[in-house]
Amino acid sequence: MSEINPFSKTVIGDKEPLCNQKSLLAALLLEARSGNNNVLLAPRRCGKTSLAMRLARDYRAEGGLATFCDLSAVPSADAAADRIATALYASLSVNDRIFKKLSRLVTAFVPVITMNPDGSFSVSAAVSGVAKSGLDRLVSVVASLDSISSHSKTPLLVIFDEFQDLAMLNDGARIEASLRSTIQHHKASYLFIGSRRKLLRDMFDSPKRAFYRGATTRDLPLIEPDEFSTHLVALAGESGAAWPLNITDNIVAIAEAHTYSVTAIAHALYELTVPNVPTEDDLAKAMNTAVARETSLFTSVYASLTPQSRTLIEVLAKEPTRQPMSGEYMARHRLTNAATVKKSLITLINGDHIAKDESGLITLTDPLLKCWLNERWGRQHMISMPSIR
Ligand SMILES: Nc1ncnc2c1ncn2[C@@H]1O[C@H](COP(=O)(O)OP(=O)(O)OP(=O)(O)O)[C@@H](O)[C@H]1O
Ligand SMILES: [Mg+2]
Repeated sequence: MSEINPFSKTVIGDKEPLCNQKSLLAALLLEARSGNNNVLLAPRRCGKTSLAMRLARDYRAEGGLATFCDLSAVPSADAAADRIATALYASLSVNDRIFKKLSRLVTAFVPVITMNPDGSFSVSAAVSGVAKSGLDRLVSVVASLDSISSHSKTPLLVIFDEFQDLAMLNDGARIEASLRSTIQHHKASYLFIGSRRKLLRDMFDSPKRAFYRGATTRDLPLIEPDEFSTHLVALAGESGAAWPLNITDNIVAIAEAHTYSVTAIAHALYELTVPNVPTEDDLAKAMNTAVARETSLFTSVYASLTPQSRTLIEVLAKEPTRQPMSGEYMARHRLTNAATVKKSLITLINGDHIAKDESGLITLTDPLLKCWLNERWGRQHMISMPSIR
């Protein structure tokens, strides 16, 4: 029996197996080699970062340079410049010769190398002499991505995770405009990723925005259920647990093939049952555990919504619909004002808490949040059992 739980609830590491996404990975690898720009959209916790990390790993394996920069909740242009420079230095540290040759092309920063207590090294970025505004520094560091790319055999692959957060800053429009003109004629290949799909799509698909038509937009598909189920059986098997296919099929079905939800339930089930064969009862318990473990996250998501959006998300958790503003649906769920429902729909879609599927059905993007809402407020345990005549 293995000492570790094989179902990782964090980003998949370079040595861990990734389920599927082979054709998307191959397409993105081709785009990186060709110096093209792409946008990758998917709801929260569907596997965007894991896929991007795998792309960076594979691109490096064939001799390319890849920079991965997380822009989530970035507070300012200055901080963004800092994160990009730090990520860039880390990506150049693949070997000494490349680091020496290319790191000096980053003129707005100098690298600071620190030795960690365990003997490993880490790199950070310190601003260099010339004082500049945050935006100038950001433009300068983005321009250095181009000069580095020009000095490499293949295009530099630059991955910006949660890119829409940059546009959400106060001076977002100026940042977008400056970056677009800097990036436009770049030799580097960009991959912009984000989970606030409406915001990111608007950045690239709206003629009014600076990045209009700046990249090919792609959706990250959910993993095909049968393949995901077989993957779970294999992972459990390698760690000493014999999981029957009907159990893993049920995990994928309950979790609607949502990548994180499937993984979180499998994680709880492994913990509960290893080395025994899990039963349907075990699965029900594991499901409760997986949902309960999300309570602090879901409580803060729920609390961050307006009261009207909270009402609507609860209603949609109970009953997904194609017509949330129809008189019949509104009356049944005691929604009184169509204008309020419309406003809440926009807020929830912008936050990517809900989405429309191909058939037009509006449902929650996170199946565990749906279960949590339905369990939490929907029922209470009775204190004693009344006799019902
Ligand atoms: N291809 C895959 N096969 C199996 N599991 C995966 C795969 N991709 C991601 N996962 C698992 O799904 C979960 C979410 O992955 P990841 O953090 O990459 O998603 P994300 O879309 O970037 O999430 P977030 O919206 O939080 O940034 C993790 O538990 C990860 O281990
Ligand atoms: Mg991510």
